[in-house]
Amino acid sequence: MSRFEGKTVVITGASRGIGAAIARRFASEGAAVLLSANEERVVDVAAELTQAGGKAAGMLVDVSRKAEIVALYDEAERLFGRVDISIQNAGVIRISKIEDLSEEEWNGVLQVNTTGVFLCCQEAIRRMRKHGQGGRLINTASGQARQGFIYTPHYAASKFGVMGITQSLAKEVAKEGITVNAFCPGIIDTDMWAYNDAAWGKLLGDYKPGELMAEWVRAIPAGRAGTGDDVAKVVTFLASDDAAYVTGQTINIDGGMFMS
Ligand SMILES: NC(=O)c1ccc[n+]([C@@H]2O[C@H](COP(=O)([O-])OP(=O)(O)OC[C@H]3O[C@@H](n4cnc5c(N)ncnc54)[C@H](O)[C@@H]3O)[C@@H](O)[C@H]2O)c1
Repeated sequence: MSRFEGKTVVITGASRGIGAAIARRFASEGAAVLLSANEERVVDVAAELTQAGGKAAGMLVDVSRKAEIVALYDEAERLFGRVDISIQNAGVIRISKIEDLSEEEWNGVLQVNTTGVFLCCQEAIRRMRKHGQGGRLINTASGQARQGFIYTPHYAASKFGVMGITQSLAKEVAKEGITVNAFCPGIIDTDMWAYNDAAWGKLLGDYKPGELMAEWVRAIPAGRAGTGDDVAKVVTFLASDDAAYVTGQTINIDGGMFMS
């Protein structure tokens, strides 16, 4: 399949988990992909895609630093000529009781999950306007943009914020052929959930490793956790020509966990 032949994709948080799965799928469908993350292994993921015959490069970028974000989009244009699709996926979660949640921790989560998404969208729109042929912005929100979970007010606020950014920007750029959408993963089996299982398990009771996640997964109508590829299939749809008339939407990818 080559739905994305001739298109350039920039993606943050692509060193593992959901972001790496999205990058793999775009590369397998013909896109040139610039993967970024704040850890070196993103370069290895990019090399894996290149070895499999794809067009990819990896770059170390911390989305809490604006200058690094600007450099990321500069590099996409230098390597591949233009930016067509931008996936704002880098994210962090911290789980803390209110009495332990410092202002520093609050600001750190908002900086990456919300301000980082805004700055990447701003830079991507600037690049899409240069070629004037529209584009696709896709932002990673969370089930926590539907309902805040316990001990994570900062994370919930950050992901509700992503939904607000998505709706507001969608209205501003719609007539330029740029769509802006978001998606809400439910429980996807990644490193982030290994942390969630341990941290919520510790605060919510006497859980052994894996028990809390298993308990929460049992409540999902589909009866299983999601995979990165479950997410990547929806994201590539949103980035495709078939989704040209879909904008400002936030789509749940969660096996029915939330129905809104
Ligand atoms: N796994 C889930 O069930 C789940 C559920 C809801 C939302 N999400 C969201 O999906 C996204 C990806 O999550 P995941 O499960 O793959 O997590 P993960 O922890 O496996 O990967 C996180 C990625 O973000 C990158 N990252 C973190 N801080 C960064 C920073 N400051 N600058 C640049 N990159 C940074 C990491 O390097 C990594 O590539 C996140 O936004 C997360 O909030 C995940």
